[in-house]
Amino acid sequence: MLYFGGKIMNKQQPVFLSGIRPTGPLHLGNYFGAIAQFIALQAEGLCNIFVADIHALTEGNWTAMELREATLHVIKMYLACGFDPSRGHIFVQSQIPETMALASILNNSITLSQILGLPTFKDKIGKKLKNDNSSQKDLQAALAANMGWVEYPILMAADILGVQADFVPVGADQTPHIEMTRNIARVFNNVLPDIFTIPEARYSKVPRIPGLDGAGKMGKTAGNTINLIDTPDVIAIKIRRAMTDPGRARRTDPGTPENCGFVYPLLRALQAHEEVTGKCQQSFEIGGWGCTHCKKHLTERLVELLLPIQQNYAGISDEQAIEVAAVGKTTVQPIIRKTLYNTQQALGLLI
Ligand code: TRP
Repeated sequence: MLYFGGKIMNKQQPVFLSGIRPTGPLHLGNYFGAIAQFIALQAEGLCNIFVADIHALTEGNWTAMELREATLHVIKMYLACGFDPSRGHIFVQSQIPETMALASILNNSITLSQILGLPTFKDKIGKKLKNDNSSQKDLQAALAANMGWVEYPILMAADILGVQADFVPVGADQTPHIEMTRNIARVFNNVLPDIFTIPEARYSKVPRIPGLDGAGKMGKTAGNTINLIDTPDVIAIKIRRAMTDPGRARRTDPGTPENCGFVYPLLRALQAHEEVTGKCQQSFEIGGWGCTHCKKHLTERLVELLLPIQQNYAGISDEQAIEVAAVGKTTVQPIIRKTLYNTQQALGLLI
């Protein structure tokens, strides 16, 4: 049998794949929204996590040292948070050039207007144009876009289809990319039956983690993060300044946890909310907690969560991280190579 496509390849267990761009220190949004969930999935199947360093080039302005550090940081943090490399793989995107070769083939199944129409593309390119819907301006911005942004969804499709992933754990913002990947896979499967597994998105069950300012989600560009490597002192200072319930003017007022911008949603993510909700809803005078108390409680819980992770992290050397990625590469590369080879053969390439 020539093909090694989804149905023909005899998988023992479902294959999960997720990628993360190395853009700086990982934060609690990454932890609750992606890392913790992904590690839990190791019980359900074969988990592949890769560092999307080629995708990170779209951000520009990297020094070689910064990008290398950021890539090592992601590998080490996955290990520190409990990813078991004996039951799954961690690899670095740029170390497997077959993925890029596959992307150059997939390019031919997507039109430029499909890419330009993606909300994710508009978001990236149109950031400066947020309040301006003039299509001429949008078009100008799109034409000025780095080709890396244009290629982004196709490379992502190659990441996913190359390893024949069944499930792709991502945030809901990535839905358009997964849909595009499924469409590309279907186009090829119509011509070359079963060449690709049709992947499915797996969304995180944790509601999105707000930023310290309570505005929007926690993110590096918004500068509203608690990083996984923040020291207890830094965590305490950040939380002291974080948003709570704006309607609770005095601590004698009862609180409304649902209106709390940061502290309560974080306690909920830590599954520590119930004991706190009641105390917040009472007035301080009748034995409840003021926001300061909630913040102290949250600080303690977060330090409790992060301290062991930070200790693990400090114990992992660059060499160990590089070794883990080398093993990941050795295992995953033949799978991607096989997908590429089958696709090339089926298209009449390689003669
Ligand atoms: N685009 C994803 C993000 O920003 C990262 C990514 C790249 C990815 N390739 C992927 C995620 C393949 C899942 C599968 O979050």
